[in-house]
Amino acid sequence: MAIERTFSIIKPDATARNLTGAINALIEKAGLRIVAQKRIRMTREQAETFYAVHKARPFFGELVDFMISGPVVVQVLEGDNAVLKYRDVMGATDPAKAADGTIRKVHAKSIGENSVHGSDAPETAAIEIAQFFSGNEIIG
Ligand code: CMP
Repeated sequence: MAIERTFSIIKPDATARNLTGAINALIEKAGLRIVAQKRIRMTREQAETFYAVHKARPFFGELVDFMISGPVVVQVLEGDNAVLKYRDVMGATDPAKAADGTIRKVHAKSIGENSVHGSDAPETAAIEIAQFFSGNEIIG
């Protein structure tokens, strides 16, 4: 299986509840390596660019407001099949539908305040990683 990278965000609902370490433990337990990580406050422009694909959705404004409401931790995760593996570790977008033991089942509050983001495909991961990290910040 190919070593791959994916992009992750630990969202404001999780940083507010001091869950960065608990979420990182689930990531590492699944065999993913955190090869870059930084805690930032996203600007409105960064959040709007990041979620541009959802611009026409009714929840877009709420989503952007939420993502800039507190600190987030942006990460690059590396491992076999990292994109799909991290989606499994996160669980379904709606925590009510997420499988037992997943990050969202254990920690998320709602479909909006769902604790983590993960890329949906390797191509998206490359774009998302480049939005927040330069190559020399990623140490595999
Ligand atoms: P994420 O994986 O970051 O990608 C898009 C986000 O939009 C998603 O997680 C949810 O947090 C958010 N989202 C999706 N559906 C809804 C919804 N119905 N209401 C509010 N936020 C939503």
